[in-house]
Amino acid sequence: MRKKTLLLVALLGGTVIAAEDVRQLAKLPPQAEINLREEMRVSLLQLNEVISLVVAGKVKEAGELAEKELGISAMGKNRALPLEARPGANMPPGMHQIGQEGHKDASAFAAIAATGDREKALAAIPKMTASCIACHYSYRIR
Ligand code: HEC
Repeated sequence: MRKKTLLLVALLGGTVIAAEDVRQLAKLPPQAEINLREEMRVSLLQLNEVISLVVAGKVKEAGELAEKELGISAMGKNRALPLEARPGANMPPGMHQIGQEGHKDASAFAAIAATGDREKALAAIPKMTASCIACHYSYRIR
């Protein structure tokens, strides 16, 4: 029952947001936008890999992949690029902060997964994906 109510609230919330887009526009330079969107698609792929590994009982591998691809270890990849090609450097501070928190949350997940405890790793997944939602519901780039 409670789950159904939550789902309904989520759906209604989604409808409201679709009707009047209240997300803040964070216009990025064209190359930064291209790079951001490519990184996003890779993040989604890697996230799915991480979840699949946990489900398959390969919990430590899931942790290693999460740290490498989504965690603090994955930060600063674009540092060598020109400023106009770097997504993070062109984000408003609030948006950038959500991104950084997301990397930290993925590392926190990785630390839990490193123990090999599947139940704890499963329970930690929503905290890792929360930043994806937080940013997508707060910011758009076009
Ligand atoms: C700091 C903000 C931020 C975080 C954190 C974030 N995203 Fe995104 N993401 C964006 C923005 C902005 C867009 C582009 C939205 C638009 O087109 O206006 C986007 C687009 C995407 C897209 C579509 C890419 C395309 O080809 O257009 C995917 C897939 C995606 N994100 C996945 C994820 C996943 C998975 C996570 C979490 C692991 C995540 N994102 C975390 C900001 C973020």
